[in-house]
Amino acid sequence: MAFFSKRKSLEQLTLDSKKHGLKQCLGPWRLTMIGVGSTIGAGIFVMTGTAAANFAGPAILLSFIIASIACLFTALSYGELASTMPTAGSAYSYAYTSLGEKFAWIVGWLLLLEYGISAVSVASGFSSYSVSLLKDFHIHIASWLHNPMIQPAIGGYGKGIVFVKSLDLIGAGSVLIAAIFLLYGVSESTTINAIIVSLKIGVLILFIILGFHYIKLENLTPFIPSSTGPMNFGIRGIFRAASTIFFAYIGFEAVSTAASEAKNPKKDVPFGIIASLFVSTMIYIGVALILVGVVPYRKLNISDPLALAIDYMNMPNLAWILKSSAVIGLCSVMLVLLYAQSRIFYIMAQDGLLPPIFSKLHPKHCTPWIGTIILSLSIAITTAFLPIDIISDLISLGTSLAFGIVCFTVIWQRNVHPNIHRPFQVPFGGFKIRNIWIGYIPVCGILCCLTMIFPLIIDMIYSLINHNPLPLLLMFIYSVIGVFGYYYYGRKHSILSNSKEK
Ligand code: ALA
Repeated sequence: MAFFSKRKSLEQLTLDSKKHGLKQCLGPWRLTMIGVGSTIGAGIFVMTGTAAANFAGPAILLSFIIASIACLFTALSYGELASTMPTAGSAYSYAYTSLGEKFAWIVGWLLLLEYGISAVSVASGFSSYSVSLLKDFHIHIASWLHNPMIQPAIGGYGKGIVFVKSLDLIGAGSVLIAAIFLLYGVSESTTINAIIVSLKIGVLILFIILGFHYIKLENLTPFIPSSTGPMNFGIRGIFRAASTIFFAYIGFEAVSTAASEAKNPKKDVPFGIIASLFVSTMIYIGVALILVGVVPYRKLNISDPLALAIDYMNMPNLAWILKSSAVIGLCSVMLVLLYAQSRIFYIMAQDGLLPPIFSKLHPKHCTPWIGTIILSLSIAITTAFLPIDIISDLISLGTSLAFGIVCFTVIWQRNVHPNIHRPFQVPFGGFKIRNIWIGYIPVCGILCCLTMIFPLIIDMIYSLINHNPLPLLLMFIYSVIGVFGYYYYGRKHSILSNSKEK
């Protein structure tokens, strides 16, 4: 099967991960902090409100549970692969050894959506909360400084776009500041990350504890509002909201991209992945309950819904504490997303699939500095132009696909390399069909990821039927660039292909 050809051997992968030149300084808690730091961000601070207002109502709680179950299966699959192949390339490297170079490129391209483009959404959330915070201190930022040039226009089904005379320079600036921290090296930036994550979690727990008292039963009834459109409310709305807030879970697996810098990757990386997912899920369900319990869900279609909940609770001091922690917390998400993406580019460049400039390490800080600068500048420019609403579904779609491939890779690896040492294995085993091992957990992961993708595709098709081709168009353009990138650069410069051809 030509499509699965050109695979990296496990021995080659182990060799590559040993000669990376990155410092090995991260323990289990630091890794968990990386996971939580990159997970809790714009998803909960911004998108929970819009998902509840447009798709699920109070049943957003069920959407969170559905999305977290999908992520749990994927987290366990990631855990097995990360313990067997501790490499900074994450899902990209797993696909390279299992499914071959073309699949690896596809996964690398999907991960760029998951981490790189996610950073755009997070920067956009940062911009909303920081402007709202400054407003509380009577500092008004001109709208042309914090709104992206392309904006969604509500009309008909889905969203069209309008162009306005503004650039989100606040969001773009935040990306550049995060990049400066990263350039100083992983050790320093993970310490800053750990402090920020503690602050972010502390404030959200405070929000949950204080908000509990203000929950009104009438806001939670009906728990599942009747359907008002193809994907709005009712049971379908719950799944549509789950696809949207799937974005909120992106990041727990970023721990796997730090495998090359972990002290004991085989044990600590699976721990970090599962622990970050657990912490994030608990916080999300708590925050979502307060949000829809305190504010009537129809009012949550705004960019700072948690701040509105605090207005309802009439606690002005909590408002600025929460907004400040959101602003700082979103910076930490950006930090980790940029970190993860720069490491994936680093590995892809080492494999020859990207230009060598992405794997050039700084002589003193041992960080892939030129790659980080190029990446951050591209993300900053995109942030100035594109809003969170337009790209978040595309990100969820790409991430669900990447997660599905990770689950599939576990099954593939078990069949092709049944005897290699696996310090962590997906629980509950599996069954065999014609001597092919099929794991319960990976299969459930694949099915759940498909469940996340389905509502997004249906929604894109409805948008197209209703004269809004933008979501499908963006997906098409992104895929075409990926295909051309591989055929005109990656394939020609691949170190593996060239060494096999010699
Ligand atoms: N999960 C991250 C967020 O919600 C990307 O911002």
